[in-house]
Amino acid sequence: MTVDYIASGGGPLQGEFRVPGDKSISHRAIIFGSLAEGTTEVSGFLDGLDCLATRDAFRAMGVTIEGPEAGRLRIHGVGLAGLQAPDRPLDLGNSGTSMRLLAGLLCAQRFDTTLVGDASLSRRPMRRVMEPLTRMGAVIHGTDAGTPPLSIVGGQRLRGIHHVSAVASAQVKSALLLAGLYAEGETCVEEPAPSRDHTERMLESLGYPLQRGPLSVSLHGGGRLAAGQLQVPADLSSAAFFLVGASLVTGSELRLREVGINPTRTGVIDILRAMGADITIEQPRMFGAEPVADLRVRAAPLHGVVIPEALVPLAIDEFPALFVAAACAEGETLLTGAAELRVKESDRIQVMADGLNALGVFAEPRPDGLRIRGGVIQGGTVDSHGDHRIAMAFAMAALRARGPIRILNCGNVETSFPGFAALAAQAGMQLSVVPGNA
Ligand code: S3P
Repeated sequence: MTVDYIASGGGPLQGEFRVPGDKSISHRAIIFGSLAEGTTEVSGFLDGLDCLATRDAFRAMGVTIEGPEAGRLRIHGVGLAGLQAPDRPLDLGNSGTSMRLLAGLLCAQRFDTTLVGDASLSRRPMRRVMEPLTRMGAVIHGTDAGTPPLSIVGGQRLRGIHHVSAVASAQVKSALLLAGLYAEGETCVEEPAPSRDHTERMLESLGYPLQRGPLSVSLHGGGRLAAGQLQVPADLSSAAFFLVGASLVTGSELRLREVGINPTRTGVIDILRAMGADITIEQPRMFGAEPVADLRVRAAPLHGVVIPEALVPLAIDEFPALFVAAACAEGETLLTGAAELRVKESDRIQVMADGLNALGVFAEPRPDGLRIRGGVIQGGTVDSHGDHRIAMAFAMAALRARGPIRILNCGNVETSFPGFAALAAQAGMQLSVVPGNA
């Protein structure tokens, strides 16, 4: 059964809370905790469907993982050579991160595996990892379109390569580094712009040596990972919806606790501030290798901006929320250099443009971006196409809409932000979850 949201304004948004744990870091905690020697304890883990799919994949490969209970996990690592053949295909649901990172890890194992996903994941491009992994010696078959399911033939000897990636992608980089842990010689990944570096930080914190340059990272195979304590920050990508929502409604003030502010992720703060948002970063500190802070956001009038292309990879998951901010801003906002948005959980350029148009906002899609003219938001119906971040972005749009917005197909919010509707209501939104027809 699917669910829809009916969002009808509300606000101002007020209070202090912690949004759920960071999705990217939670996936990596499972992966590297499983490959480490000894017991890794994780706190702040994201209990969302995507990360649970990663957990279940490692359980199916013989790793004992207790939890999550109140965000706590105990992972009894089996070491780099300790995974066992699963007795069924690994179902990774909606999660592109799980599919791409596991492709890198599993092409280096002794056993064969098959990776499958839901309808959205089954449309997403996998050649970006299959091609370089194949050059390392991997044997991976996808569909003719280069999409899942992936069947991976184990028992190959991998060699390190120097890969120059066409896209700034942490998933590609991480897939190759995971394969590189098992490869002969050096594996090096070079990117056109920096992508999130959680893999590098976690590998180093578990004792694996890396060489890092401004746009490259390399490692040698054959090392070991030591178990450790991992503290997962709150997810800035989830906080982003509240940064936008609170900016939009006069009288709003929120304090979001323990949010990750890794500089490879903070483009959303820079873009919102450039639009006039009032966001302050309080008590910056470290959770292990990852920087966190409390974020205070107060309502402020927003204006349109031309988004610098250099900020795109640093805000790649936050554009649905930023497009809603742009729709409520004075003047025009232009995004370019963001063609990657077309191959996320949905085509985020087209789906956001369609939804904004349905609410009476001028939004013109381009091959690599979107032009939005701020204006009045009408009530109406929009389709999230099963994309969690589109669903939450349009819930925020309702804060400024003239009538209720029905948002179709919101069940996948559970992939990244379990409890979103309840937290939104607690903060002051009027959001109800109703059975959908899809
Ligand atoms: C992620 C990397 C990004 C991001 C995704 C999570 C990760 O994808 O959009 O939500 O955890 O490595 P790309 O690597 O495709 O840019």
